[in-house]
Amino acid sequence: MNVWEFYGFSENPYSPRPITASDDGVRLLVGRDDELRWLGRYLRSADTHPTIEGPNGVGKTSLVAVSTYTLQLEFFNKETEQALILVDPPFQLTGETKPRTFKKEVLFKIAQCYIEHEQMLRSRGKFAPDVDEVRQWLNSPLFVTEGGGVTIAGFGGSASGGSSPNTSSGFSEEGFIAMVSDWLSKTFPKAKDGAFVCVIDNLELLNTSRAARELIEALRDDVLNLRGLKWVLCGARGIARSVASSQRLQGVISEPLDVSPVANKYIEPLIAARLESFATSGETLVPVEARGFNHLYLVGNSNLRNAMKYSEDFSMWLFDRASKDLSSDDKYELLEIWMSEVADKAAADTKDVKPRAWTVFDQLAKAGGFTSPGEFADYGFESNQAMRPHLRSLEEAKLIDSEVDETDNRRKTISVTSRGWIVSYQRSGYRHLAGAR
Ligand SMILES: Nc1ncnc2c1ncn2[C@@H]1O[C@H](COP(=O)(O)OP(=O)(O)O)[C@@H](O)[C@H]1O
Ligand SMILES: [Mg+2]
Repeated sequence: MNVWEFYGFSENPYSPRPITASDDGVRLLVGRDDELRWLGRYLRSADTHPTIEGPNGVGKTSLVAVSTYTLQLEFFNKETEQALILVDPPFQLTGETKPRTFKKEVLFKIAQCYIEHEQMLRSRGKFAPDVDEVRQWLNSPLFVTEGGGVTIAGFGGSASGGSSPNTSSGFSEEGFIAMVSDWLSKTFPKAKDGAFVCVIDNLELLNTSRAARELIEALRDDVLNLRGLKWVLCGARGIARSVASSQRLQGVISEPLDVSPVANKYIEPLIAARLESFATSGETLVPVEARGFNHLYLVGNSNLRNAMKYSEDFSMWLFDRASKDLSSDDKYELLEIWMSEVADKAAADTKDVKPRAWTVFDQLAKAGGFTSPGEFADYGFESNQAMRPHLRSLEEAKLIDSEVDETDNRRKTISVTSRGWIVSYQRSGYRHLAGAR
């Protein structure tokens, strides 16, 4: 039997995965009213594209999914004539992404969205292309590989070949791009008519500030300025902030919204929403209740993904010991014992970290868990290079993540890991550093 069924849930209420753009998602997202308002305002009214900055696991992807889904629903429910239509899932950029290929990928996705929403758009008096025509394009040799699967990968080469059968039958890359752009300007002649809302998530995958800035700048004219598309850009470790500071993107993207940890007062309703959404009957055995979750949230430095992960682990552990007559207090006590045992074991397993590196680690944890290589002096080093070996040993011990961004010394690329917070909990005498700050 599945553990969650045994506990009385249809699925894992502590899933560390992002909340999805769905009705369920709307119920699960708690404590983000201000952020939802800000995003809604930008997407509805601003001519710049909203950007979002915040540490991994704080809830950016979830926030954007629910925000865009809610805005879309307002149009579907006829509360507004401004059609903001979500393009799901988010796009990601990597070091390999080429602006031109990306533009095609986006327009390919938009064509699919037109098929999906054709009737809705027409019924509301908005332009939508003939779906048969759209399908012809999507099934054309431009997109279909030999295996029959749809891809956009081979797209670039086929058109430049010149004599390929695609062009002779009227399907060309240029033609496709021009046509979808034309549809977009017909569906959304003015900003107030709406847009397809696209998300670029995890900008930090681009590794350096410079790479991120250069790629987003290169996308400016061809992608960010395309009529009928709205973009939300999300990134961690200071990368969204760095992109937003680019001169060439002034007036194109917004100053980033800083997403902070969900406040402690929301933990109770946040957990309640999950337990309620996934309970299959009144008879549940809740492994981690609000009080326990709050404990784990503090151990994990107010990082939701960490707390979800620890809760999932505890739920697995409790399974063998669970019985229906465990009281709330019993479970909380077991949770505390489990957490300290996990912390003891993690600390004991962490060998090969020398005293100087431990000092760096403890100071970093105390300061909130984030720093940049440029802050070496705060840690008592003469230079960035002098601090580096200590960071490397902490990284090897999986206590911190540390990235080198030669283009931006001040980016907060150094952060304590989920495992690091557990070890830090042990080292601070089982006290919550997050609570003490
Ligand atoms: N406002 C929220 N309410 C409830 N759960 C949330 C909220 N925000 C995030 N979560 C949960 O926290 C975890 C991390 O969220 P995610 O959106 O993936 O963070 P990020 O994109 O910033 O890394 C996921 O388990 C997600 O379901
Ligand atoms: Mg995310």
